Amino acid sequence: MTTHHQTLDELLDERLAAGDVPPLPAFAAAATRDRDDSARAAAAADPLGFWAEQAGELLTWSKPWDEVLDSSNAPHHEWFKGGGINASVNALDRHVEAGRGDKVAFLWSGEQGEERAVTYAELLDTAERLASVLRSRGIVEGDVVGIYLPMTPEVAAAMLACARIGAIHNVVFGGFSPESVAERMEVSEAKALITAAGARRKGKTVAVKATIDPLLASIPSIETVIVVPTAGDAPQSGAPAEALDPPMQDGRDLHFAEALAAADPHCEPAPTTAQSPLFILYSSGSTAKPKGILHHTGGYLTGVAWTFAHQFDLRDDDVYFCTADVGWVTGHSYLVYGPLINGATSVMYEGAPDYPSKSIWWELVERHKATIFYTAPTAIRACMKWGTELISKHDLSSLRLLGTVGEPINPKAWHWYFHVVGGDRCPIIDTWWQTETGHCLVTTLPGVDAMRPGSCGKPLPGVAIEVVDEDGQPVPAGTQGLLTITQPWPGMLATLYGDDDRFVDTYFSKFGKDTYFVGDFARMDPDGYLWVIGRADDVVKVSGHRLSTAEVESALVSHHAVAEAAVVGQPDEDTGQAIAAFVTIEDDYEGLDEADLTAELREHVAERIGKLARPKRMVFTPDLPKTRSGKIMRRILRNLVEGKPLGDTSTLRDPSIVETIEAEMKKG
Ligand code: WTA
Repeated sequence: MTTHHQTLDELLDERLAAGDVPPLPAFAAAATRDRDDSARAAAAADPLGFWAEQAGELLTWSKPWDEVLDSSNAPHHEWFKGGGINASVNALDRHVEAGRGDKVAFLWSGEQGEERAVTYAELLDTAERLASVLRSRGIVEGDVVGIYLPMTPEVAAAMLACARIGAIHNVVFGGFSPESVAERMEVSEAKALITAAGARRKGKTVAVKATIDPLLASIPSIETVIVVPTAGDAPQSGAPAEALDPPMQDGRDLHFAEALAAADPHCEPAPTTAQSPLFILYSSGSTAKPKGILHHTGGYLTGVAWTFAHQFDLRDDDVYFCTADVGWVTGHSYLVYGPLINGATSVMYEGAPDYPSKSIWWELVERHKATIFYTAPTAIRACMKWGTELISKHDLSSLRLLGTVGEPINPKAWHWYFHVVGGDRCPIIDTWWQTETGHCLVTTLPGVDAMRPGSCGKPLPGVAIEVVDEDGQPVPAGTQGLLTITQPWPGMLATLYGDDDRFVDTYFSKFGKDTYFVGDFARMDPDGYLWVIGRADDVVKVSGHRLSTAEVESALVSHHAVAEAAVVGQPDEDTGQAIAAFVTIEDDYEGLDEADLTAELREHVAERIGKLARPKRMVFTPDLPKTRSGKIMRRILRNLVEGKPLGDTSTLRDPSIVETIEAEMKKG
């Protein structure tokens, strides 16, 4: 204890030095789910029995499963084999049938201040009608439907409409460019696309449907386009006409509202099973080609339902606020399926965290008396920068639990979150997982485990992890190694859509078919707490968004002035990592103004992938560090941007290139 008036900085430093934060007694006393670690013990003794019990308790099955887990075709593990289950029925119908139709599913706020409360009964009505429309257009079980929508409740209805008829939804994040959408539709051979007339972002409205139209013409599989009106009560001034009233192609395009009004309000759910594919989510890997991560229904819903209820210690009267976009896996698992399966009420915000003001999130917490808040470390660091005053003006006393996801959180930001947002009252769960894992696998159980800022905690019940060396041998506690998962878990990806060989190769070849290769560097401390260090492959995390360096390279070299490009992630105090691009220009274009070219290339990447992939740093260089056989040594570039020793450079064809690049880096 200090006696003088402590500054916030001093307080945070003092707490940093203090180490663990024990479970908070008041929270623990009021906890509704776990009061001790018995779930871990039960699951360790009988993992299959544990998951079977959860699946039976949390979900409604139309037919019992024949087998909890069939691993005879490993690494293709089949959970709850033969069980009949429909995701839409579990998320909607059963709550309405139980008399909870008037409970609010989503408290939606538009960026111009609009408010909409959508109940479970209303969401079911929309999902059923939309499912009827899709079915009437010939969409059947196993067909792929693309969804490219801003953050409105329609996005959840669209996902559930697909699930209802057994169609596989393929959601593309609204921040990805139309070209990315088209690519993902093409490779998944989507039969329909549900999109919006326009999207609002920070006070501007842009056309969406009209922008995608020219690209759709070359995707013959798309037979139906359903166009949701631009969100909001009234057209914004300055909105382009085609963002409000886009051109429609006869026979292919349908207006959402008109189609729903005319649709059969009842749509019998398809007899889907635990093994029915539920969704594809394209995510970045080590190559320029995104991976279509495919999740099946039964296991995924079990893992998501259990983790949502337990990691957030869910209560019936909770108001849960997850800031993730639905286009990422966090949005799928913990904004749509987790909350809806559990019958929870969620706040959904359409806009950016700094629009219309940098305190919009706290206004929403106060207005809706949110009890649980889940966001990414990058957002927490931004809020720290924007200042504590923005937060202290608001009454956040309704909050009782906080969470983070997507990237490591630095301990100081953790303590700031705990103190300033959580008022020292709310446990923080640092949830580690991936698009592939479907749901959280490692975190502290609130009220049960001590929290260790910077570490995400211990494996959840029924989850087995190991940190190993390159040969797959476990490394001693405290030593950095490669993270692996050594036992099947319910939400594990089923395969990569249309590329099963890549699935086996990426995840189950390095250490064999029984060990899932995560792709993260990590260390486990002597108490069994996991410290994730970062990616071990060519994936970068920019503001928690997963991007592939190969994808950015391929976008850069598609520009006519670029001869070669190498992209690496560089540490960034705001966004965790940022994109650094090393670019060699074609001879014909030398002498161009570097600032102009930088702007042009950034714009080019935005068009090809999306604004989030624009390189923050661009270094022009006459050559790249290459081996004698011409292979680019990205390791050297990575060490350069991280300011680390370069390591062995003797295999470089031209060692002097390193100095040239260093000089260029100093210029920029
Ligand atoms: C990283 C996001 C540290 C990790 C849900 C993982 C984390 C990748 C954490 C998956 C965390 C996720 N602490 N790192 N709590 N959560 N990661 O597929 O590198 O977008 O492999 O899923 O994010 O990213 P993805």
